[in-house]
Amino acid sequence: MTNPAQGRALGVDVGGSAIKGAVVDLSTGEFVGQQITITTPRPATPDAVAQAIAQLGQRAKWEGPVGVALPSVIKGQVALTAANVDPAWVGTNAHELLSRHLRTTEISVLNDADAAGLAEVAFGEASIREGAVLFLTFGTGIGSAFFINGTLFPNTELGHMMIGGAEAEHQASSAAKDRMGLSFRAWAERVDVVLQEFERLFNPTAFVVGGGISEVADRWVPHLDTSTPVVVAKLRNRAGIVGAAMASAEHLNP
Ligand code: BGC
Repeated sequence: MTNPAQGRALGVDVGGSAIKGAVVDLSTGEFVGQQITITTPRPATPDAVAQAIAQLGQRAKWEGPVGVALPSVIKGQVALTAANVDPAWVGTNAHELLSRHLRTTEISVLNDADAAGLAEVAFGEASIREGAVLFLTFGTGIGSAFFINGTLFPNTELGHMMIGGAEAEHQASSAAKDRMGLSFRAWAERVDVVLQEFERLFNPTAFVVGGGISEVADRWVPHLDTSTPVVVAKLRNRAGIVGAAMASAEHLNP
């Protein structure tokens, strides 16, 4: 008899404001059942986040492989940075931490933008699989993932690039838009400055834009003035969850 849980994994996307997860069918990238969302604990310490992920797994009644996308540089399953979570993450072996809290040791951890980009490569826009593509997520921060013909160069952190005297994500993330009460047009002008700097330095074939605010891409993408084509990610806000689930099953441990 075939095991219905085979070919599925729980993907979890840890963000500054919410931890979102779902069981994912890895052959289609579709969710099996509902997405579960838990408010990110404050402070978002490693133990508090791991407990929230365990709770999410219980609510999903899931005991199989788990992939977790974190807003951190991840090398050898160790978090090396912590931009929008508690600084205690720096130096934390996320695999070891989660193995203590979850009912499985089949766990993979990777950067959230890398996860989202990998999901887009697998299930999203065909154009992201060709050429030198710069995938960007706009949320609490700005996440980045470079792809050459669909192959990931992991752990790039372009959101922290200094542009015009400030970090890119401090002026053009969607959190910055909310913080400053900007209209879509005013915010798009700031995004444009950031994209034009990325364009000047990296000359990608295309930008792919994702993150929650890509759900309303028609309100801001038309205001962008870059000469590089800007493609809207297809999986939108689901990408981080799907990519995390893929990582756990394919043992993608950048
Ligand atoms: C973090 C990145 C992350 C991005 C999006 C940045 O602040 O440094 O690792 O990918 O936010 O969450």
